[in-house]
Amino acid sequence: MAEKDWIRVDDYIAAALISKDESQEATLAANARENLPAIDVSPPQGKLLHLLACAIGAKRILEIGALGGYSTIWLARAVGDSGKVISCEVDPRHAEVARANIAREGVSARVDLRVGAALDLLPQLEAERAGPFDLAFIDADKPNNAAYFAFALRLSRPGALIIVDNVVREGAVVDHSKTDGGVLGARALFDAVAAEGRVEATAVQTVGAKGWDGFLIARVR
Ligand code: SAH
Ligand code: DHB
Ligand code: MG
Repeated sequence: MAEKDWIRVDDYIAAALISKDESQEATLAANARENLPAIDVSPPQGKLLHLLACAIGAKRILEIGALGGYSTIWLARAVGDSGKVISCEVDPRHAEVARANIAREGVSARVDLRVGAALDLLPQLEAERAGPFDLAFIDADKPNNAAYFAFALRLSRPGALIIVDNVVREGAVVDHSKTDGGVLGARALFDAVAAEGRVEATAVQTVGAKGWDGFLIARVR
């Protein structure tokens, strides 16, 4: 069983369960045309984020790491007309592509895209009292994951979900010969969540079009 089969199964899942209206083909095409890295969540993962947001009735969502807005749009579709997704993106070119995609999908009024380093933007959001958020999706530079988690927790309401992408990294999280910033960031996140009494959490491994990885999912008590 290899990555090629995981991709075939992701394609099968998407063909069966994700409609053409939902699939954001134009977003992914624009991202490819603009040479953005193809590191968006996969279609089944995007729909999972959407379903989780719908399940808790999320109206206010914080995202860290927008890229071309693919995950942003899945989340924006969940919050309804009165809802808001505030997304932080450091790369102005990514943000520009995201803005165009978000506009094409008709959800500009629901998305507040902030351009800057998340560690600069998050204190501003705190000062503005932009929270409390119902859901946070953390998917930016991995070394800062524990810091982002701490901000997300401070900005969350009781019962909120905090979801972090890329916490397994092809199993590198448990391979102690691996010490790159991304893996260290994942381990620091697990340590911080484990020591945090205000959340209950799990992580689920995933295979699919994005290889072998996983999400950490925490619920604020
Ligand atoms: N969530 C997106 C993918 C995000 S990829 C999706 O699934 O569609 C990671 C993004 O995080 C990139 O666009 C990168 O520019 C951004 N990023 C990296 N470091 C950052 C930082 N310090 N602050 C905010 N965004 C950052
Ligand atoms: C990378 C980043 C991501 O957010 C992701 O989902 C996959 C890969 C990366 O930086 O390589
Ligand atoms: Mg990711």
